[in-house]
Amino acid sequence: MVAVIRKLSVEYVDALIEVARESWKWTYAGIYSDEYIERWIREKYSREKLLNEITRSRSESDLLFLGAFVDLKLSGFMEVKIKKYNAELLRLYLKPEYTHMKIGRDLLSEAEKVMKERGVSECTLYVHSQNEVGISFYLKNGFKVKGRDGNDFLMVKKYE
Ligand code: ACO
Repeated sequence: MVAVIRKLSVEYVDALIEVARESWKWTYAGIYSDEYIERWIREKYSREKLLNEITRSRSESDLLFLGAFVDLKLSGFMEVKIKKYNAELLRLYLKPEYTHMKIGRDLLSEAEKVMKERGVSECTLYVHSQNEVGISFYLKNGFKVKGRDGNDFLMVKKYE
């Protein structure tokens, strides 16, 4: 499946919330309850917060918010915080039916292009230790487990 990857704009905020909700329910089924997930989406993916972040990502360079579009519809998104020499992959979520089609890989490589242009030498991320799909994706894409923080693994990828 070929997805078009581009910077997200504010008009996709509601689509993003829907992708996040569906992806979270699929990813964390058996890990978090539906109530927990709904609360998380309401708080961390509130329209107001996302509008701020998307707007910031379009004017300032420390935040990169990418969308993956299939037939003009949002199928997934990725948010990365880019600092001087390192980056943190904050969020990477696809709608369940669009997983396993290399769209996540394409989002990651687009973000990595930007990281390289900015001289980033390592990217870190936190992934739930029971999120087998996420962990296996990151391992296959060059990340290594470097430690543990509560329920999460800390993973790191280094660039030349
Ligand atoms: N079932 C099982 N394994 C899968 C699946 C799936 N549906 N999708 C991807 N994978 C794993 C496999 O190991 C796969 O390797 P394989 O092809 O050799 O089997 C590997 O990921 C690479 O597959 P891609 O097609 O490149 O990955 P994809 O486009 O699906 O993107 C992603 C990966 C972003 C993790 C996606 O599957 C997804 O959205 N998953 C749910 C959300 C999630 O876990 N996000 C990470 C949270 S951590 C954070 O955001 C920092």
